[in-house]
Order: sequence, then structure tokens, then C-alpha cells
Amino acid sequence: MKHISVMTREILEHARITTKSRVIDGTLGSGGHSREIAKRLGTTGVLVCIDRDAQSLARVQEQGITCRGIVHYIHGNFVDAHELVPPIAGDLWDAIILDLGWSMDQFADPNRGFSFMVDGELDMRLDYPGIGPTAREIIAEYSERDLADLFYNLADERNSRAIARAIVMHRKHHPIITTFDLVRVVETVSKRYGKTHPATKVFQALRIAVNHELSDILSGLENMIQLLAPGGRLLVLTFHSIEDRIVKQECARLAQNGLVKVITKKPIPPTTEEQRTNSRSRSALLRIIEKI
Ligand SMILES: C[S@@+](CC[C@H](N)C(=O)[O-])C[C@H]1O[C@@H](n2cnc3c(N)ncnc32)[C@H](O)[C@@H]1O
Repeated sequence: MKHISVMTREILEHARITTKSRVIDGTLGSGGHSREIAKRLGTTGVLVCIDRDAQSLARVQEQGITCRGIVHYIHGNFVDAHELVPPIAGDLWDAIILDLGWSMDQFADPNRGFSFMVDGELDMRLDYPGIGPTAREIIAEYSERDLADLFYNLADERNSRAIARAIVMHRKHHPIITTFDLVRVVETVSKRYGKTHPATKVFQALRIAVNHELSDILSGLENMIQLLAPGGRLLVLTFHSIEDRIVKQECARLAQNGLVKVITKKPIPPTTEEQRTNSRSRSALLRIIEKI
């Protein structure tokens, strides 16, 4: 399943890419946004591509990104961008893009364990094969109460207690090792809700926990702002309400502290046409802040 980049037109427009732009793509993924940005850069343009997943970075680097300017690839977490990004022709940047979550390349890989639709090891680390804990370790080691809190707090899972109880009962006799092991346990207590698979929120919560995604957003935004030139923009694309709420609150806090101006009072959704043609875009929301 090929990754289709989300809201590319809106990102290019609001990032105000010109031939001279200096841009950081903090979530390179399959490189879709970066390739479009790179096409628009001239010889003085600079693009830095970051991903915490060494495999994703290597895949795009191998294919190459065509650009008349300079392209740098950095393996690491965007939270550390202020330390990782080399000072190229001055320190400040015109635009930074964060497209949160995972790419379809990661999702479809059975070794990664992100998808309840693909059987594979319950891993879920974006920095694969980095250090733990993996989703499998969380499922094996957390108490019933901690599991319930995790599903409720990180994914608004209404059936969190019953799911946590079922997991703890099941693991007493059978280890939960694969994605399908976990799906089968969730299915004993949760039924499909409309089109939504019963394990959707459990998988979402585990992915967020394994990759400490929420705390990374908070530190990432604060650190990334330091890299922007006055008038430079940070664009953040989120895919679920908890992520969006955190981005919204953090943007408001940075604005209150006089560091940025909020460009999107309301987040920008994808067009109806994009939602129709790329189902992954349906929950996307784009928020933008500008450095003062
Ligand atoms: C949705 S994909 C990006 C897709 C990309 N914009 C495109 O058009 O192909 C998200 C990517 O961000 C990476 N990622 C997620 N959190 C990260 C973080 N804190 N630091 C660096 N990369 C991160 C993931 O490994 C994944 O490859």
C-alpha cells in the first residue's frame, strides 16, 4: 500500500515556499512532502529531512530527492532538531513541517506491528529497531489499571476497563505476542462500531505510548520555534483529536508568551475531494503558527 501524502497543496501554500526557502521536514516519512518542496527550491534553497525511523530515511535517501538546492538527511527525533540541524548558511529557517504519525510503508510492514490488519510482532517503535519498551512489553507488563488508563487517556477508549481485564486474564495462560493475538483478545469484549474496527483505539493508544508521541509534540514545538526566522512558519498536521488538542493548546501558550502568532484560529481540514480519494486524510487537521 503506497503512502499518499496528506494536504500537500495546503502545506506548500501556507509554508510560502520560494526558490530561496530554507525548510525543515521534521517527519520525512515516504518523502512525499519533501519531494514537492524540493521541486520548488532553487540553488540557494535548503531542505533538511529528519525521521526517527532509520529505515524510512534510508529508503528515501536511496531513491533520492531531486533538488537544485541542498538536501540534508538526518536520522533522529524532531524534538532534538535544534541540536541535530547543521547551521547551514545562517541558523534560522523559513518553514518547518511536522506530519505526525506513521507512513503507510511503516503501517504495512508486518515487522513493525502498527496495524491491526497485518499480522506481525507487536512492536510499534518508530525508531525500529531501537530501544524499548515495545507494545508487546507494555501488554505483558502493565497492570490492569495502567492498561485501562492508557487506552482511556491516549485514545478515549470507552471500553478500556473490559479490554484491560480481558488482556490480563488472557496473558495468564497465553502470551500476547502478535498483532492478531491482541486483536483476538479485544474482539472478545469489544464489537465493531460502525466502520471502526474494535481494536482501533487500543492500537492508537499503544503507538502513542511506545513512541511517547504526546510529550514529543510538546517539546518539539517549543524547540522548533527556536529554529525559525522571524516570519518563519511551523505547520503541524495531526490525525486524532488528542494530538490536535495538544498542538492547539501549545500554540496558544507560545502565542501568549509572545513568541509566535497563531495563523489558524481554526485548524484547516482536507478538502472533500482529498477526503474522498485518500481515506487516511479524513481525520487530518493542519495548524500553523508564525514566529514573531
Ligand atoms: C505521516 S509520516 C510522514 C509522511 C511524509 N510527510 C510524506 O509526505 O511522505 C510520519 C513520519 O514521521 C516520523 N516521525 C514520527 N514522529 C517523529 C519524531 N518525533 N521525530 C522524527 N520523525 C518522526 C515517522 O517515523 C514517519 O516516518
